[in-house]
Amino acid sequence: MKNNNKTITLPANSPMAAPDFIFGVGTSSFQIEGAVHSREPSIWDTFCNQPGAILDGSDGITACDHVARWEEDVELIAALGVDAYRLSLSWPRIVQRDGSANEAGIQWYIKLLDKLAAHNIKAFVTLYHWDLPQHLEDAGGWLNRQTAYDFRDYVDLVTKAFGKRVYSYATLNEPMCSAYLGYEIGMHAPGIKDKAAGITAAHHLLLAHGLAMPVLRKNSPDALNGIVLNLSPCYPASASSADKLAAKTADDRLFGWYLRPLLEGAYPDLLAALPAAEQPPIMPGDLELISQPIDYLGINYYTRAVHRAPDASIDNAVDCDRGFVELPPTPPVAGATPLTDMGWEVYPQGLTDLLLNLQQTYKGRLPPLYVAENGAAIADTLVDGHIDDPQRIAYLQSHLLAVNAAMAAGVDIRGYFCWSLMDNFEWSLGYQKRFGIVYVDFKTQQRIMKASAHAYRDMMQRRTSAG
Ligand code: GCO
Repeated sequence: MKNNNKTITLPANSPMAAPDFIFGVGTSSFQIEGAVHSREPSIWDTFCNQPGAILDGSDGITACDHVARWEEDVELIAALGVDAYRLSLSWPRIVQRDGSANEAGIQWYIKLLDKLAAHNIKAFVTLYHWDLPQHLEDAGGWLNRQTAYDFRDYVDLVTKAFGKRVYSYATLNEPMCSAYLGYEIGMHAPGIKDKAAGITAAHHLLLAHGLAMPVLRKNSPDALNGIVLNLSPCYPASASSADKLAAKTADDRLFGWYLRPLLEGAYPDLLAALPAAEQPPIMPGDLELISQPIDYLGINYYTRAVHRAPDASIDNAVDCDRGFVELPPTPPVAGATPLTDMGWEVYPQGLTDLLLNLQQTYKGRLPPLYVAENGAAIADTLVDGHIDDPQRIAYLQSHLLAVNAAMAAGVDIRGYFCWSLMDNFEWSLGYQKRFGIVYVDFKTQQRIMKASAHAYRDMMQRRTSAG
């Protein structure tokens, strides 16, 4: 399908044009809320204060000032014509240090949810998008099994308060990022660099999911309850058996490490090869809890990964121990699709391959899917009050076609959420990477719809008018 990079078009008779297919946009609490003084500190507030942790030395004190500007932002979401809005809750804004409720924080979210409902916008609420209360980290954080129980209690408190306002809950967003980036390689909060810590944190995050699911079933039986994982299909750098093994090892270690416990109740076979000191702290019953049925699986896709086998003569001990080395994306050659501003390869085929592979691998155990995040960071420029972002439009167009191809092959996909509603705090990269379809001038907090916002909105309007 030829694209002029100005519009986003669904193929004729696309299943995504069906009225029950959900289109949305997403954000997360720490990345947009600001208002740090009306909540407990989180591990990301602490991490931002670590010299060198954040590329531009920024933090979440103001972010997109969303706590103050929430009414304007809901009007903006409504103006996009989306069916749904994916947001996350700030645990430190809801539960106080002594475990009691922060009523003001809860009421702020209830006002937000009620305004979304008034615009007939479904709320997809993520209960944990990385902003752990610092006082729990002080007690060990995700290395402490008790944190999983604290999470369950937080979920009980907030879902009782929200009643029937929420269409869908996700227990966790990307536990792999929380565990691997936060506790194994130290690139994210809390900044711990220890393989055993990463594996322990991963297990306690999965346990937190397992403990929370019965609470969601009890308090929110009518909501769709599940979890959101980031998944990048892993391709071998060559057809050699060593590179194929490296790609499989990477897939098992980074992605199967979460998928298999959730969908099959067992860690990948890699587990057996781990030394005792690196084994996850599995207790009897944990994996049964973790693998209880979920209503859906959310998938965050951005790009693929290509791996080669490690070579002791050139690779460091960590890469040799892991058993795979991720190759940087091939720099764009003339005419090839460019890299995004994150340096990520634009590879929509990877999304189709990923979705088909999930269906093939997990067959009868795979719940309905949502593409919970997909989008591109582009070095947007504001010119005469406009932001023209043809690369992002092309990215969204190509990835929607990729979803369409998977659905045409029978994969049960119920919705697609563009990441992100607006430019925001991109974790260790601060405000240097713009993922929004709405531009944020961080000096004035002005929101300006980019060309991609108009294209996304127009695609959705054409769909509903055709419907
Ligand atoms: C993630 C997070 C988002 C990121 C986005 C771009 O998937 O990493 O959910 O918070 O901002 O993915 O990296």
